[in-house]
Amino acid sequence: ELINNGEFTWKTPSNIALVKYWGKRDPQLPENASISFTLDACFTLTTLEYKSKERNSKLVSESHPSDFSFEVYFEGEKKDSFKPKIKTFFERVEKYVPFLKEFDLVIKSRNSFPHSSGIASSASGMSALALCVMSIEKQLNPEMTEEYFNRKASFLARLGSGSACRSVEGELIVWGNHKEINGSSDLFGVKFPFQVHKNFKNYHDTILLVDEGEKQVSSTVGHKLMYGHPFAKQRFKQANDNISKISEVLQNGDLKEFIAIVESEALSLHAMMMTSNPYFILMKPNTLKIINKIWAFRAETNSNICFTLDAGANVHILFPEAEKEQVNNFITRELIQYCQENHYICDRVGTGAQLM
Ligand code: PMV
Repeated sequence: ELINNGEFTWKTPSNIALVKYWGKRDPQLPENASISFTLDACFTLTTLEYKSKERNSKLVSESHPSDFSFEVYFEGEKKDSFKPKIKTFFERVEKYVPFLKEFDLVIKSRNSFPHSSGIASSASGMSALALCVMSIEKQLNPEMTEEYFNRKASFLARLGSGSACRSVEGELIVWGNHKEINGSSDLFGVKFPFQVHKNFKNYHDTILLVDEGEKQVSSTVGHKLMYGHPFAKQRFKQANDNISKISEVLQNGDLKEFIAIVESEALSLHAMMMTSNPYFILMKPNTLKIINKIWAFRAETNSNICFTLDAGANVHILFPEAEKEQVNNFITRELIQYCQENHYICDRVGTGAQLM
């Protein structure tokens, strides 16, 4: 008698970590706290269509009554290759959203950024799916508060991809239990609970696409490299200490200290990969050329430009709104030459997911 069919569409952002999550334990719980800027221009748009199985052909629903029934379309085309990952997600969240199995589902998704750009789409993709699922739950339970909705969406997204739990709300999200961050949890992301200094309002992130293409190390493999890693314990402590430091910086507006923490975090993430077994170098020569150019520019101009990296060769360039003209000139004049086919994306801090 409840809602038999319908559809929901969510637009959900990607995010860029300032203090990195790298290393987890079951079930998808982080070894240290992390914090990220929610982005704006890099997003996933996902529609979830749902239709009660009873109302459909009996053949379909009775043949596998206990299976998830879903189809996946990506950028207009049927994508069976995405199904295993989504099936794993459904299996992990099943006990929290048992109603899912009662529906035939169709997922239609697209990204604002090129699929093979080397930009991780798992954060925005998994948070979009989690939010669509929560929209169905809200039909069944209209009383739920917005806080419950967002929290459970983040909780479900986490089970799809850890960093996806930081792609529900904006503008700064902390994931992982940390003694100095009120309300923080390993189970879901929370908004940074303190007043953020105006220096960080509208912060920019220009993403230089140094290496478009499949990631050399998937994050599933990557996180596993932290099991038994000789520096694991120190790394998790360093990250938690950096959360304390950056929390203060975000409140007092100290841009120089922000740069020191953020760049050190990026290089520490890569240092973990270079010192794991097996080991990887995920930077490319152009990644290093860009980093050196940024350092030279900072030495010459007193700019507050800095870089961060994900588990790949692309460079995220972070800078304050007040410096956008100066930095944009620098980027187009000196850095674009290191991008594959001159590809780059101008992004900035965003406010979180939107129901369309
Ligand atoms: O969410 P995952 O499992 O794809 O891990 C992402 C890890 C990094 O992007 C490298 C760091 C982070 O905190 O986002």
